[in-house]
Amino acid sequence: MRSLTASILFATAVSASSSVGSSACTTLSSSLSTTANVYHPNSTEYTLAIEHWLLSSTESPQCVVEPRSSADIAQILQIVNATQTPFAVKGGGHSSNVGFSSTTGVHISLAQFNYTVLDVQAETVAIGAGSKWIDVYTILDGTGFNVVGGRNPAVGVAGFTLGGGYSWKTNAHGLAIDNLVKVNIVLPNGTATTVSATQNPDLFFSLKGGFNNFGIVTEFTFHAIPQDLVHGGHLTYDFSQMSAVNAALVAFEQNNKDTRAAVVGGISSLPTANGTLGAPAPGVQIFYDGAELPDGMFADFLAIPTVSSDWTGQPITFLEWSGLDGGVSNLRGLFHAFSTLPHTTEFLQDVVDEVADFSAELTSKSAVYMSVAIEPFMAGSLSNDNATARSSAYPPIRSPVLLPSNIFFGYTDATEEETFRLAIARIQSNIVSKAAARGLILPQSSGGGIYPNYALGGADGAHVLEFYGEEHLERMRRVRREVDPTGVMRLAGGWKV
Ligand SMILES: Cc1cc2nc3c(=O)[nH]c(=O)nc-3n(C[C@H](O)[C@H](O)[C@H](O)COP(=O)(O)OP(=O)(O)OC[C@H]3O[C@@H](n4cnc5c(N)ncnc54)[C@H](O)[C@@H]3O)c2cc1C
Ligand SMILES: *[C@@H]1O[C@H](CO)[C@@H](O)[C@H](O)[C@H]1NC(C)=O
Ligand SMILES: *[C@@H]1O[C@H](CO)[C@@H](O)[C@H](O)[C@H]1NC(C)=O
Ligand SMILES: *[C@@H]1O[C@H](CO)[C@@H](O)[C@H](O)[C@H]1NC(C)=O
Ligand SMILES: *[C@@H]1O[C@H](CO)[C@@H](O)[C@H](O)[C@H]1NC(C)=O
Ligand SMILES: *[C@@H]1O[C@H](CO)[C@@H](O)[C@H](O)[C@H]1NC(C)=O
Ligand SMILES: *[C@@H]1O[C@H](CO)[C@@H](O)[C@H](O)[C@H]1NC(C)=O
Repeated sequence: MRSLTASILFATAVSASSSVGSSACTTLSSSLSTTANVYHPNSTEYTLAIEHWLLSSTESPQCVVEPRSSADIAQILQIVNATQTPFAVKGGGHSSNVGFSSTTGVHISLAQFNYTVLDVQAETVAIGAGSKWIDVYTILDGTGFNVVGGRNPAVGVAGFTLGGGYSWKTNAHGLAIDNLVKVNIVLPNGTATTVSATQNPDLFFSLKGGFNNFGIVTEFTFHAIPQDLVHGGHLTYDFSQMSAVNAALVAFEQNNKDTRAAVVGGISSLPTANGTLGAPAPGVQIFYDGAELPDGMFADFLAIPTVSSDWTGQPITFLEWSGLDGGVSNLRGLFHAFSTLPHTTEFLQDVVDEVADFSAELTSKSAVYMSVAIEPFMAGSLSNDNATARSSAYPPIRSPVLLPSNIFFGYTDATEEETFRLAIARIQSNIVSKAAARGLILPQSSGGGIYPNYALGGADGAHVLEFYGEEHLERMRRVRREVDPTGVMRLAGGWKV
């Protein structure tokens, strides 16, 4: 796989010299239509536009430009390319990787592409690429329809969808990308176009996992799915319940046959009263997509004594379940990822041991949060009848199902970035080795198969797109050479094919 690795470019944040960025900003101010806005450092609009969920993902661009139309975006791309100015386009700003949706050059804000339109006749929902899932769920609330969207309301529709999108509805309906009807995009040469399974299918395939390699997406249209009331709860447990909760997770994974039910587990170390990171403790989120809860559903989780629980057993709206926009975390942080075959209790204990070791090691640093998410999707979730639009760059393997896990290290001290970066790469590699030793790594999945929406950038990122496989990558590269022969999108950071 060496030649493949070498051919996958990882674009880190290219830094703009201040003259380059400011000359682009001057040109943008003078040549954009009177309706587009350019915002300068320290204005309220500028600060809001560049904000990320993690403080460490934010950079200070020369200016923020806020297009109102595809024509504005075409002009912006022309100007940044002519001046070779690095730029960024941000969805909800939830990437942990610096430079993926931040820049020191020109920051393109899609705040004006913030709308959700349900078409009941066509059973579709058109969503502007500047929306967060909370915006979508707020508008769809009470309509009786929903889409396969994010579990966390503050996440952006754009990044989530362009990377795949694991949802509460994935067991029944596949990934977010499996439910895309069409995408409106401004190509690197400024042409605005609509892409679907019948219009430019190669580009449609490539966008489903291809992030910002092919242009700037302005709108996603999803299949609308009927939405009834739901059941859900967040349960946390004392660390002494770890093996009981892990046994319940594995039992649910093996025994649940109801595609409306979903669970996400978490193994998390949080600060104790004296400020040190505590022992890893278990938590689960339990979700049932229906007004009628089948008897005994989630009984194992509910039988274990909790430290906290908001489960009532009563039906609530999907918007109530989704909760409020968490806004910004006010932490610095890093994500990393791995994917395994269905979990075993022995492997979950391996994860607990790793989190315990790393929290003990990093407690003397500024660590304030450490967690590994366990996401037990059902065997057929990515290959069932509802995952109809299966032709997508991500994931290359839909059966057997590979279960994605997110590793999150949160910290506060900006000078410790390198310490935490090395540590999260090390815990990921330890966990993958232990999973491999237990036979939980699919040999052809390239180190486990890393979900790009959870993955650490930098030098460690080289393996991320490798998981897509040579065939998928070649198709994506062909499309990239066709739509972006002069490399306009290389001025933006992110996973690059
Ligand atoms: C708290 C939290 C919860 C999460 N929960 C889930 C979950 O349940 N399921 C899941 O699958 N993932 C989840 N994620 C991961 C999430 O999907 C990724 O972080 C995703 O990239 C976030 O999208 P965004 O738009 O907010 O990110 P951004 O950082 O804004 O963007 C991510 C990437 O997309 C590109 N991009 C953004 N907009 C456009 C556009 N219009 N055109 C072209 N490219 C664009 C950016 O350039 C960047 O490279 C979660 C993350 C966090 C922090
Ligand atoms: C923005 O504000 C910060 C701190 O308040 C200040 O250091 C910086 O010089 C300001 N930048 C501009 C361009 O005004
Ligand atoms: C999008 O619209 C919602 C209201 O519909 C608003 O709360 C939110 O702040 C808007 N987001 C942006 C980026 O303007
Ligand atoms: C597909 O979705 C429908 C509802 O939209 C649901 O009733 C059905 O169970 C789903 N199919 C599978 C295989 O999960
Ligand atoms: C981008 O700029 C380069 C260098 O000036 C130029 O050769 C190329 O044609 C431009 N690309 C587009 C799509 O305009
Ligand atoms: C801090 O508290 C935790 C448990 O609350 C305890 O295990 C640990 O020993 C304490 N550390 C110090 C330095 O007091
Ligand atoms: C822009 O690129 C697309 C895709 O390669 C192409 O079909 C279109 O003709 C180009 N438009 C212009 C104006 O060159």
